Amino acid sequence: MTNQVVWHEISATKLAEKMETGDSNSDLQQARGIKYGHHTYGEMYMIEREKSLGHWPHFFAQFCAQQQLKVTGNITVVGINDGQEVAVLPARSIVGFDIAAAALERGRQAFPYIDFKLMDITIGELAAKNADVYLSFRTAHIFFNEQLAHIVSQAYRNLKGGGKAVFSVPGGYMEADGTIVIGQKVEGGVNRQKPFEDAGRIAEAMRVAGFLDVAIVDHGIEIFVVGLRPWSILFVNGSPRSKGNSDQLVTYLMGEAQAMGFSPQSVNLRSKKPAPIAFCTGCDHCHAVKHNVCVFKKDYFTLEVEQRMLDADAVYLVSPSYQAGVTGFMKIFMDRCEVFRKGRLLKNKVCGGAAIGGYAGGGQESILHQMHFFAQILAMRWVGAHGKRRSHLGGHLIGYDKGAVMEDEDGLTSARNVLVEMRSLLEDIAS
Ligand SMILES: Cc1cc2nc3c(=O)[nH]c(=O)nc-3n(C[C@H](O)[C@H](O)[C@H](O)COP(=O)(O)O)c2cc1C
Repeated sequence: MTNQVVWHEISATKLAEKMETGDSNSDLQQARGIKYGHHTYGEMYMIEREKSLGHWPHFFAQFCAQQQLKVTGNITVVGINDGQEVAVLPARSIVGFDIAAAALERGRQAFPYIDFKLMDITIGELAAKNADVYLSFRTAHIFFNEQLAHIVSQAYRNLKGGGKAVFSVPGGYMEADGTIVIGQKVEGGVNRQKPFEDAGRIAEAMRVAGFLDVAIVDHGIEIFVVGLRPWSILFVNGSPRSKGNSDQLVTYLMGEAQAMGFSPQSVNLRSKKPAPIAFCTGCDHCHAVKHNVCVFKKDYFTLEVEQRMLDADAVYLVSPSYQAGVTGFMKIFMDRCEVFRKGRLLKNKVCGGAAIGGYAGGGQESILHQMHFFAQILAMRWVGAHGKRRSHLGGHLIGYDKGAVMEDEDGLTSARNVLVEMRSLLEDIAS
């Protein structure tokens, strides 16, 4: 019997055909698998699965705990088959995709609380920022070509900030006599590195897609590739002065945020494109006429800021002190955020801020108070700074001339500490 390596070449359509024509799962696994003597990898997998399903919940619970997967949240499973491997997870919701209609139907009967969906993972679209955990066991490496990047970026898009993706590749196979061999069988021997090369390619695709802390976790027969979808943070810069202290602080904080595992973005409220931010006129349209819709349809807030606020996991406000309060731009921004209030669209986003005054006691604390109340009104979760030598309320900086703030080490520490607090709260929310 010849070794037949079909793993990488099989198309999704062929796979679906095999799945639907064969009345047993081993047909499918044979289609997916590699033939070794009397057993395909698929057969081995099925035998192993039959044998180990009793152990699986224990094994997998341990893995989830080690990897801090939020299995009580929303879980997406790609390649769910009949759902047996994930049915025990104590999730709020499980949505499972596969191209095997018959297996899905069996799953629907057995596990009615799982939402089984028929879908080819290479073309389907998953809901954005919806899942706490994305699982794909032994599926992604079937598509080792340009589709791998697509699948991995879909996983990224599907996860909430702080959510984790897990892909796995087979680490071994079963010989005819039932012995499990670690590695992949090749002509004339066993290649122990091949499974790791496969895992490595997935890991690389994950890094390119933006995943952080990507790690390959070796469990022998199963090799997992785990990655964290970073939290998105939006810096809202309220200074009218270009290249001044706020601009330089935001640039500094964006670098720090990136290093801490955030995916940073910023908006500059003084922007005139496509049109300067308009002040709220109190028309009540967003409350009384059309919820969450502002009458100003074409200014910078509606066209740029609004969606970025909705997408962000964390919002970091930066304002210079103007007459011991926030700048006019920052206040206009705060007022325009009324558009999010109906339905509490910003609920549970994490919010913090930094205030820059030309002088010590120049109003920094009042500004942080104002930002805190703003966050509270919009149901966001405010964080302070736990600064050692400066404000506990947030970033507290002193600097008058352009760039002076970058000399204020205590101030920079307090502003950076806001990020530390944000990350810590976001981790708590995600776990
Ligand atoms: C109109 C105006 C009002 C200001 N009021 C204060 C103030 O009340 N307290 C203070 O400490 N600095 C005050 N400043 C100084 C600025 O807060 C300070 O120069 C800051 O670094 C400016 O930040 P930027 O470079 O990002 O614009 C004021 C500056 C201007 C232009």
